[in-house]
Amino acid sequence: MSDTDPGQMKCFYITTPIYYVSGPPHIGHCYTTVAADTIARYHRLHGERVLFATGTDEHGQKVARSAREQGLEPQVFVDRLAETYKAAWRSFHVEYDRFVRTTEPGHKRVVQKIFARLRDRGDIYAGIYEGWYCVACEAYFREDELERGRCPDCNRTVETVAERSYFFRTSKYADAVAEHIEAHPEFIQPEQRRNEVLAFIHRGLLDACVSRQRSPWGIPVPDDATQSIYVWFDALINYLTVAGYLQDEDKFAQTWPPDLQLMGKDILPRFHGTLWPAVLLALELPLPKRLFAHGWWLAATNDDSGLAKMSKSLGNVIDPLASAEGLAEMSGASESIAIDAVRYYLLREVTFGLDGAFSMENLLARFNADLANDLGNLLNRSLPLLSRGFERRIPSPGGLTGALAELTEQVRGRYEEAIEVCDFRRALEALWELIRAGNKLMDERQPWNLLREGNREEAGAALYDVLDVARTAAIGLWPVMPEAAEEIWRQLGLAGAGQPLRWEDFRMGALPAGVEVGKPSPIFPRVDLAKVRGRAGQEVKPPAAEVLEQKLITLKQFQELDLRVAKVLAAEPIAGADKLLKLSLDVGEEQPRQVVAGLATRYRPEELVGRTVVLVANLEPATIRGVESQGMVLAAGEREPLSLVVLDSECPPGTKVR
Ligand code: MSP
Repeated sequence: MSDTDPGQMKCFYITTPIYYVSGPPHIGHCYTTVAADTIARYHRLHGERVLFATGTDEHGQKVARSAREQGLEPQVFVDRLAETYKAAWRSFHVEYDRFVRTTEPGHKRVVQKIFARLRDRGDIYAGIYEGWYCVACEAYFREDELERGRCPDCNRTVETVAERSYFFRTSKYADAVAEHIEAHPEFIQPEQRRNEVLAFIHRGLLDACVSRQRSPWGIPVPDDATQSIYVWFDALINYLTVAGYLQDEDKFAQTWPPDLQLMGKDILPRFHGTLWPAVLLALELPLPKRLFAHGWWLAATNDDSGLAKMSKSLGNVIDPLASAEGLAEMSGASESIAIDAVRYYLLREVTFGLDGAFSMENLLARFNADLANDLGNLLNRSLPLLSRGFERRIPSPGGLTGALAELTEQVRGRYEEAIEVCDFRRALEALWELIRAGNKLMDERQPWNLLREGNREEAGAALYDVLDVARTAAIGLWPVMPEAAEEIWRQLGLAGAGQPLRWEDFRMGALPAGVEVGKPSPIFPRVDLAKVRGRAGQEVKPPAAEVLEQKLITLKQFQELDLRVAKVLAAEPIAGADKLLKLSLDVGEEQPRQVVAGLATRYRPEELVGRTVVLVANLEPATIRGVESQGMVLAAGEREPLSLVVLDSECPPGTKVR
């Protein structure tokens, strides 16, 4: 490759946030890392050169505090935790190319050089910071940003800060950042997050405080020993360190800018969506091609108050390894396959970008339905038949692959499109269509019957197609479930035959006939849910009920709802309808409204009279059991009403609710 064509040499550069080493990784950290690993692997399958970087964010008050709590020197503490992270990613089959630590001397030098350069240019200046600081988020807040005096992001108490500091001129670059976001719709994804960042900028970007006074656990500000560089400024620069900035010009030319930077939605508006591009503009560097902010995994809190983002204080942190170990134990699958199944669950269960609820029950249900049943069956039903008259070798194709070839083409196209926009869920759904088509083919062509009838040729042709589907599926599976895909590859004899896994072979007909297959053995043993239930002494819930995926509405759509305070004047049963009550409501209009409400299973009519409720006042009138209803009363509960929505102090009927 010639030096004059650097564009050709660019590698695919993908990053995760670097994680605070205040505790071991949980399922939220695992999520971003597995997603990035999947994309990196997908690009490697195409033969591309990839730089996939992750790492640890080791400075700052939060980490120093955690070290103190453990009675350890910060450096000893971060060394231990960095190893914990590396080990976790190894267990999770994460193949990063670079693990960066912010305490590395090389990184510290880059940060200091950048700081000095921006200060020389006047983009960093000295001043006094007076305001609030949240240690958990390592973030500064203005008074008007606090919510009831607490951190608007994590709801913890904040500290007041009044100290000499250095500031970065974010305000100078605010317009340019906003213009870039407007002009490059793909820069921040999903779209809803992009709008959030724009709104954040339009509220006004103040210059960012980029140093702390007398904070011993941080990179010293060059030529000012009283100050340490702000942990977020230090952390964001990791992406430049990894690319070789100010260290290796050639490497930097081949790497920069990042093709895709993944992160959770909480660290987009304030940091990756604004401060980060502003710093890059100040350094006159190209901005990343794409930032993608995913949603949160929520889990039930230990005080039963519902679902919340995981945090130690709520006691709802999910350990990804423990989940995989649990699954391995309950299913009998190997731990490595169970890890892959957790990776699959994370990417398949919830659309990347939205929030979801993690539950072991759903993980088990997905394991049984998608992996043990659909994918597992494909192999378990076909491979053993090769010992009946085929000497355990892949039979010859029968040329009957027309419709299947077309479906494979379509699935491949849909998978590619979905991965391009980080829609792992849709990519896997597409892949499963192919897997199910393979199972259907087995049901329809019944090779075991053909063999019994002595029709070896047709049986072989059917088996070839089914195994070819399994082979193709393994290619699509590899980015998400590398160990499982490689095991399928082994069982198909392809590993032994030295056949590499390549994206270009995602098509029908590429299975080499005559190859001796490996030993068939079920990869995904079914979980006996009844047994598990018995052991846990509790019910295992059906799948997917808790996914919080929602179609979002705009503010304007919400404002179209006319919600009003209403007072119940009268309530009576409706003959022949056990669940319904006829209510007469005062909504501050001349005439009372008549509304049919499904409240009878929960409330007696007399309990409702005199209560203040909330009415959807602009619902189209409807006739229910012959009674006209002019609106709907709000109550909590899905199928049955559990509790009326009421006000916590009196408001006159007709008052708007918004
Ligand atoms: N150190 C900073 C990042 C600096 S990057 C230059 C940081 N670290 S973190 O450890 O607190 O969080 C790292 C990532 O984990 C964030 O992207 C965050 O959104 C993600 N998650 C933390 N909890 C999560 C869930 N419960 N669910 C999904 N992701 C979550 O912020």
